[in-house]
Amino acid sequence: MSETIEIPEDIARAVVTPRSYAADAPLHEALRWLRKNQPLGQARLEGVNPFWVVSRHADILEISRQNDLFRSGDLATTFTTIEGDRIVRGLTGGSPHLLRTLVQMDAPDHAKYRVLTQAWFLPQNIRRLEDRIRQIAREHVDHMASLGGECDFVNDVALTYPLRVIMEILGVPPADEPRMLRLTQELFGAADPDLNRARAAADGAGTEGRGAIAELQAVIADFFMYFKSITDARKAAPGSDLATVIANGQIDGAPINDFEAMSYYVIVATAGHDTTSSSTAGAVWGMCEYPDAFAKVKADPSLIPGLVDEAIRWVTPVKHFMRSATADTEVGGRKIAKGDWLWLSYPSGNRDETVFEAPDEFRPDRSPNRHLAFGYGAHLCLGQHLAKMEMRILFEELLPRLQSLEFAGPATRSEANFVSGPKRLPIRYRMSPA
Ligand code: HEM
Repeated sequence: MSETIEIPEDIARAVVTPRSYAADAPLHEALRWLRKNQPLGQARLEGVNPFWVVSRHADILEISRQNDLFRSGDLATTFTTIEGDRIVRGLTGGSPHLLRTLVQMDAPDHAKYRVLTQAWFLPQNIRRLEDRIRQIAREHVDHMASLGGECDFVNDVALTYPLRVIMEILGVPPADEPRMLRLTQELFGAADPDLNRARAAADGAGTEGRGAIAELQAVIADFFMYFKSITDARKAAPGSDLATVIANGQIDGAPINDFEAMSYYVIVATAGHDTTSSSTAGAVWGMCEYPDAFAKVKADPSLIPGLVDEAIRWVTPVKHFMRSATADTEVGGRKIAKGDWLWLSYPSGNRDETVFEAPDEFRPDRSPNRHLAFGYGAHLCLGQHLAKMEMRILFEELLPRLQSLEFAGPATRSEANFVSGPKRLPIRYRMSPA
């Protein structure tokens, strides 16, 4: 390992710039370099507070597991510039967060809010959704079959399928889904010129300029307005959906307040959507790029859960979360000081060559597949079982009917350093009738 702690500037830029996530190869080249030469190095970029880039699988797990030592909410939970942080704190009266959701919380609040919905997300509870999800999956597979052998898998299938599922559990009627789709894309794709509200390239490294933050705030306000009506409806007439659990939740014996209930809807609506659609599209992308993977899964449907996990690893739709140290400590041979800010690079951990053989290859039969795309520790993804169930069901419905599959044009990825994945995936295919 090199003795200097500082990461070369071009490498640090490749890690934070939204464009590298669209280009993919330069990102993985930079991450490979980091794992080999500077696995826990410090990035010093103009206009940005210094931060450590954590690139090895083992170090990401070690940090994520110690939630008291490495907190999520003391500093910005996702990457921002000094100016971006200043603007957000100005708007919120000192908080580094525009939203207060589970991902920005720490002990003791985090556990109190997480426990509200934890049981709802357990496999034994969500299993009862299986028939309804299968029906939604079939509608999507039928739609794909009706498109005449060519489609953009992202826009024609992958975007609307998890959206429909998540909206159903949040009680959003189908007529409002296009609005929700637009809002999640605007929230997560804020740096992508095709996806943000102004349809313009964001300034700086992403979402931190004044205009971009005002835009994000407007998107959040729209979400809040929308979900306020759902909270009111579920309080008046409780059902068995997740929206009811949130709207009627109690924290320390008092009803959850509107702001926090709405933040909860926003995290579920957003965290559960783009991540799952990116991974679903990634599975199809992987099978186009690796025809032998397609042949294997077609021949042996018991590989479908493996296909799902491998797609989630290969895409790793959540690109980073930040943590900050509450005390002086040491990780991976590096001294970390109290107050230091750390970037957990999930795509890097998921391509760590000491954990995964041929990490850049798409292998549905990879076993074991110890990816960390869902994070680890107290914040481990609440929706992981739902995401995997949705994907499994879609491929159980799609693969028996899919006779051939290939790219039909250049596939592209979205420009974002927080959540990103396939943006267009033109494919050509033959399908048998239902
Ligand atoms: C392939 C799909 C998904 C991926 C890759 C993913 C990834 C992640 C990651 C990395 C975290 C950790 C955050 C942290 O450590 O700070 C997380 C948390 C979370 N995810 Fe997911 N997620 C996915 C699907 C879903 C779905 C379907 C839902 C809900 C319907 C969901 C809801 C949440 C929630 C509520 C949290 C916050 C948990 C907490 O902070 O305690 N996710 N997810």
